[in-house]
Amino acid sequence: MGRQLHLISFEIHSPINHTVLSWAAPGDDRLEALSDLKKWQKLARTLERGMFDGLFFADTPGVFDRYRESHEDAVKYGVCWPSHDPVVLLSALAASTEHLGLAATMSTTSFKPWTIVRQLSTVDYLSGGRVGWNIVTGHLRGEHRAIGYKDVMEHDRRYDAADEFMQVCYALWDSIGEGAILADRATGIYADPDKVRFVDYHGEFFDCETVGPVLPSPQRRPVLFQAGTSGRGLRFGIEHGDVVFAIQPNLPGMMRYMGQLAEASAQMGVKAPGVVFGVQPILGGTEEEAQRNLRDLIERMPLEGCLARLSGTMGVNFEGIDLDKPMREQATNASQGLMKAFTSVLGDRPFTLREVALKWGLSVGMPQVVGTPEQVADELERIWRETGCHGFNMTPNIMPKSVEDFVDEVVPILQKKGIYRTEYEGTTFRENLGLDPFD
Ligand SMILES: Cc1cc2nc3c(=O)[nH]c(=O)nc-3n(C[C@H](O)[C@H](O)[C@H](O)COP(=O)(O)O)c2cc1C
Repeated sequence: MGRQLHLISFEIHSPINHTVLSWAAPGDDRLEALSDLKKWQKLARTLERGMFDGLFFADTPGVFDRYRESHEDAVKYGVCWPSHDPVVLLSALAASTEHLGLAATMSTTSFKPWTIVRQLSTVDYLSGGRVGWNIVTGHLRGEHRAIGYKDVMEHDRRYDAADEFMQVCYALWDSIGEGAILADRATGIYADPDKVRFVDYHGEFFDCETVGPVLPSPQRRPVLFQAGTSGRGLRFGIEHGDVVFAIQPNLPGMMRYMGQLAEASAQMGVKAPGVVFGVQPILGGTEEEAQRNLRDLIERMPLEGCLARLSGTMGVNFEGIDLDKPMREQATNASQGLMKAFTSVLGDRPFTLREVALKWGLSVGMPQVVGTPEQVADELERIWRETGCHGFNMTPNIMPKSVEDFVDEVVPILQKKGIYRTEYEGTTFRENLGLDPFD
């Protein structure tokens, strides 16, 4: 079998995935899903029917509060607010599926290493090794303020703290050694204490004195995803990510990113992790219908909602800036990588602020792949072949139709092309993602 394409569904536990006001579209059921676990379980089973590697939750742990220095636009339009906890959903989804990987975004600002290891590894163990963690450092001021900080921690220092965070996590994951669990009913001995290493970590940011809280799952620990694209973020991703996730506005941006990743990995003397690019398929029975569906999404979006989201991610208040001038790179402690990607010239001219705001409102900058199922399948294949990426993290728009249509109409075409699985190869998320086993 040749190289295979990997697909992940990119969701948010809020009134929308990534498209501002998609909750108001006729037929969208996300508002109902907020209070109905069964809708999420059905969605997970649909993804499993479509042989997806996983369902991946992004998160906005706080509220977008940069635009006009207020949370009001985010609240008014339901832009990732309310922001329900994705981790709580994982165990319900694990119970209703057998193969699907389940990943959640958790920030190294909001949690302690022990809390994340305990929460995620519990579901990982219970699900037979199907959990992933998207490690983010927490770039949102709203998140920092919600937990009692005045402002966002300085960008590179957040990554220094996150490096230390990971050292504690690895120590906790490695604490329970091979053969430690005896569970001998006759002798009453549960575990051999000599094989359970005590973690005694004291660093600049974290202290931890304990033993591993959860038994290792068949994949040992959750699959690690990372999405920083600044220089510092890229190095962090290469060091810790099993898979890195990237948003680039177009093919030239994706190609440039692949080059940067290869170069940085070579400098660090390690193999580059697999890349999944964020994309947003927009389907229609004909090309015209697909374009109309895209226009409907755009026309529904209030510009203030888009700017609320863009200002939040970029850490800059875009109030009062000329929308029709090129968006200029600005110093930020939020996402430096995304700021750079969308202020670089990657075509014939720079993007205006209005264009970037609309891209953010639609899909936080993930490019649209628009057309009939055949056209969408062909374009995904082209990007996958030209970039050499591992696969795609795909944000749906109208729920659950967008996912159901993709599974029913695009997946069979990818399978026919021989580039997409017809059955799951493994039992763990790690195996299905096609990652190297731990040595
Ligand atoms: C593709 C992508 C997805 C991200 N998803 C989230 C998310 O769901 N929640 C979050 O708090 N941060 C998210 N981030 C933010 C990053 O993890 C990171 O904190 C931020 O981009 C700053 O890193 P950078 O300057 O290295 O790009 C995402 C970033 C990218 C590029």
